[in-house]
Amino acid sequence: MTVQFLFLIFSIHINSIHCAHFRGGAITWRPESNQNSVLNTDRNIIIEQRYAWSKSTAASACTTATILSFGTIGENVVSIIQCYSPAVKCTSAMYTTVSTLVPCTDYNIVLGTSYGYSSTTRNLTAISSGIVVGYVVSGAWLTLQLGGGGWDLMMYINMRPRSDNQLINSSPVSDISLVTYVPVGGIGPTSIDIPMSDADGDNIECRFSLASNTLGGIVVDECGGVCQPVALPALTQLISNNNTCTLIVTLPTVGYYAVAVQLEDYMVNSTTPLSSVPLQFLLLAYDASNPVSTCTVPPTITSIPPDFPAEGATITVQVNFPYKAMVIAQTGCPLDPDLSISNFITASPPGMLKSNLPFVLVAPSYAINLTWTPTIDQLNQTYQFCAIAIDIDYHESSQYCFFIFVGPQTTTTTTTSTTTTTTTTTTTSTTTSTTTTTTTSTASTTSTTSTSTTTTSATTSTTTSTTTTTTSKCSLRTLRFSD
Ligand SMILES: *[C@@H]1O[C@H](CO)[C@@H](O)[C@H](O)[C@H]1NC(C)=O
Ligand SMILES: *[C@@H]1O[C@H](CO)[C@@H](O)[C@H](O)[C@H]1NC(C)=O
Ligand SMILES: *[C@@H]1O[C@H](CO)[C@@H](O)[C@H](O)[C@H]1NC(C)=O
Ligand SMILES: *[C@@H]1O[C@H](CO)[C@@H](O)[C@H](O)[C@H]1NC(C)=O
Ligand SMILES: *[C@@H]1O[C@H](CO)[C@@H](O)[C@H](O)[C@H]1NC(C)=O
Repeated sequence: MTVQFLFLIFSIHINSIHCAHFRGGAITWRPESNQNSVLNTDRNIIIEQRYAWSKSTAASACTTATILSFGTIGENVVSIIQCYSPAVKCTSAMYTTVSTLVPCTDYNIVLGTSYGYSSTTRNLTAISSGIVVGYVVSGAWLTLQLGGGGWDLMMYINMRPRSDNQLINSSPVSDISLVTYVPVGGIGPTSIDIPMSDADGDNIECRFSLASNTLGGIVVDECGGVCQPVALPALTQLISNNNTCTLIVTLPTVGYYAVAVQLEDYMVNSTTPLSSVPLQFLLLAYDASNPVSTCTVPPTITSIPPDFPAEGATITVQVNFPYKAMVIAQTGCPLDPDLSISNFITASPPGMLKSNLPFVLVAPSYAINLTWTPTIDQLNQTYQFCAIAIDIDYHESSQYCFFIFVGPQTTTTTTTSTTTTTTTTTTTSTTTSTTTTTTTSTASTTSTTSTSTTTTSATTSTTTSTTTTTTSKCSLRTLRFSD
């Protein structure tokens, strides 16, 4: 009797740990450096993971404090990427498990979601056939309208020399947000572009992950409880064409649906994938029948001051120095007073804070603030930042992404080269927009009186030293951009 009672308590405990918390993820791999691959020798491979979890589950709760302390989120019971190839291959490749607990980078109050990202280096041996590794847990996906339960994410890593250039391959990647809004009801199918890219310029294909597929010579389950045709309506199409991937879907009821796909890269005229990586994300089907506004034009992310990076561009920030920016979005119909931006979904570098809900800048513009002081561990790394703006009727902007390179602190360098006071140091650390303001005020002072010219020349010398700093920062930026 007592034994049974204890068992009951135990199973309730396990259930609460497993309680509907997985919200999708993606895993990719690439070599750390571009040297020829030599069979049976070791090379560093970087495994990148990102996941979305329920914010309300203890193991994946995330706050500002979690982000600042690089606190990890995930699933406590099973939290490893394990090798699924025959043991002899896993051993020859020197594979050791990788933790799936990742530092929380973002949380979204509206969606009740925590997001995390990690980059892990493994020193692996290049073997002729590659290995299959996976993150497999028996439960539980967030409650879905179709399918659900356990998750399986499977990845094929093959480090053998590429036949075209002898290098180690890099897998394809996708920066798609782990949740996409889809309207329910009589508006026709929704088409969702799944962005893909490949560092080697290979042909990239996408396909639905399969419940039973031969990957790297073994049969594996690539999608657990969210395989097709279980998780999405039967008529759903996934079209892979000319390195693009498009999901065409009509969702019948309000709620969440999961999409599980594999991204694979191929050499020209080859039908054997060089690698295969999992991408699993959510569709959030919303009721579009009673919109607040008649406007159907999605919002747009208009600018990200003070650096104003173009989409896909790289800006440089300084290690140990605060980077502050604002992501500004505008509603699709600026003259419609009923419309507003209600949420931003972000994917940020580890340690970057975001203000929670959007604030009105000047209607119809809304914004969130970003603040980040990159740590010394982040020096020389390039991180991606992505944001999507969502209006009150759930129309999404297209995703705006740019890269941030963490460079050395340039303030110290300038102080040594310029023999001026503390005032100069302050000026040096300000941004390009401030420099422009200084120039304007100089011009206006010159035209007023001759007495103030002396003062102006003093200001001009300060401006010159500022310009020097900005130029070196810009050339670094250009360097990264052309990489
Ligand atoms: C990988 O580890 C081996 C020792 O097991 C070491 O000799 C080698 O230098 C390491 N390779 C890299 C790229 O770090
Ligand atoms: C394939 O995509 C490239 C790049 O977007 C484009 O220039 C080209 O026209 C496309 N080719 C076909 C056959 O669609
Ligand atoms: C790919 O196949 C086509 C058709 O057989 C051929 O014309 C082309 O040269 C091949 N390309 C390469 C890189 O082998
Ligand atoms: C956002 O940043 C601006 C400029 O630094 C500041 O004036 C404003 O108070 C900030 N708002 C929030 C909500 O953090
Ligand atoms: C960062 O990169 C620079 C230039 O490549 C190099 O000199 C420096 O040692 C690197 N610093 C760290 C901490 O990796």
